[in-house]
Amino acid sequence: MPKITIIGAGQTGATTAHWIAEKGLADVVLVDVVEGLPQGKALDLTQAMPIVGSDSHVVGTNDYAETAGSEIVIITAGLPRKPGMSRDELLEVNSKIVREAVERSLTASPEAILIVLTNPLDPMAYLAMKVGGLPRGRVLGQAGILDSARMRAFVAMELRVSVQNVHCYVLGGHGDEMVPLTRHSNVAGVPLEQAMPPDRLAAIVERTRKGGGEIVGLLKTGSAFYAPAAALAQMAEAVLLDRHLVVPASVLLEGEYGLRGIFFGVPAQLGRGGLEKIIEYQLSPAERQALEVSAGKVREAIAALKI
Ligand SMILES: NC(=O)c1ccc[n+]([C@@H]2O[C@H](COP(=O)([O-])OP(=O)(O)OC[C@H]3O[C@@H](n4cnc5c(N)ncnc54)[C@H](O)[C@@H]3O)[C@@H](O)[C@H]2O)c1
Repeated sequence: MPKITIIGAGQTGATTAHWIAEKGLADVVLVDVVEGLPQGKALDLTQAMPIVGSDSHVVGTNDYAETAGSEIVIITAGLPRKPGMSRDELLEVNSKIVREAVERSLTASPEAILIVLTNPLDPMAYLAMKVGGLPRGRVLGQAGILDSARMRAFVAMELRVSVQNVHCYVLGGHGDEMVPLTRHSNVAGVPLEQAMPPDRLAAIVERTRKGGGEIVGLLKTGSAFYAPAAALAQMAEAVLLDRHLVVPASVLLEGEYGLRGIFFGVPAQLGRGGLEKIIEYQLSPAERQALEVSAGKVREAIAALKI
């Protein structure tokens, strides 16, 4: 079995281990600073494997030595938002955590592909690439699968249609300025803009943008974890199984969409080497303008990293 390390055995880390192990995709090493937490969760997951019929091994540790030789390292370590907080407010505290996670995991697994989840997502993925001295193909940020899945779920609920018939694309930075591309989204081939009245579509766009905050507000402690973890597992699978799967993901732009030097959510093809290619949509002036607003926010947050 290939090996996937997950740094951070909190809500998203442990749930990602759950999805990966249940799929039988890889052996999983869960790492956390809290003693006993990754070990306890790994043991619990190990005891679920006979029931779900998977031969994935899950181990928990506080020691990076056990992560050696991982093909993929998923970084979920860091603080989540509290109600009313923006993701950017986590920048300072989570920078230190992500920096350490990247340095220590790459020492143990120098060839690994990194998939970052920690918020603020786009700056943390940028930091991971810089700290690791990695080419852009080896660092992927997870945001777009989640944001697009939120929109897909809302559309499916609105139209009472299977989620499998709903295709939505949310691009841009992982903040409230993200850009749900209604013109590129469809229900069984019918453009979304024809499938429902404009006011209902506008409400779905707004709910998608605030989707993370809605859950933070309900939970009061902690943020969403089932859907973010499912998104991480999908990205890990695309890489490990060399699927050439196109998903919205945060990757370093080098001129695509007229942007350069920032991690930003775009349609990205993922395979064994990580990022294989970026798909460029033809955008209307309004869509381009919305992406530029979102890019401005990401650029500011990256500048605040001071690296
Ligand atoms: N990009 C996205 O779409 C998305 C979605 C959900 C959550 N997030 C972000 O992911 C992060 C984790 O969220 P969560 O709900 O799992 O939080 P959580 O508090 O449940 O878990 C975080 C874990 O990280 C651990 N940790 C802290 N410092 C560490 C270190 N130096 N090394 C190893 N582990 C360390 C903590 O002990 C904790 O167990 C947050 O920043 C959150 O905002 C991003």
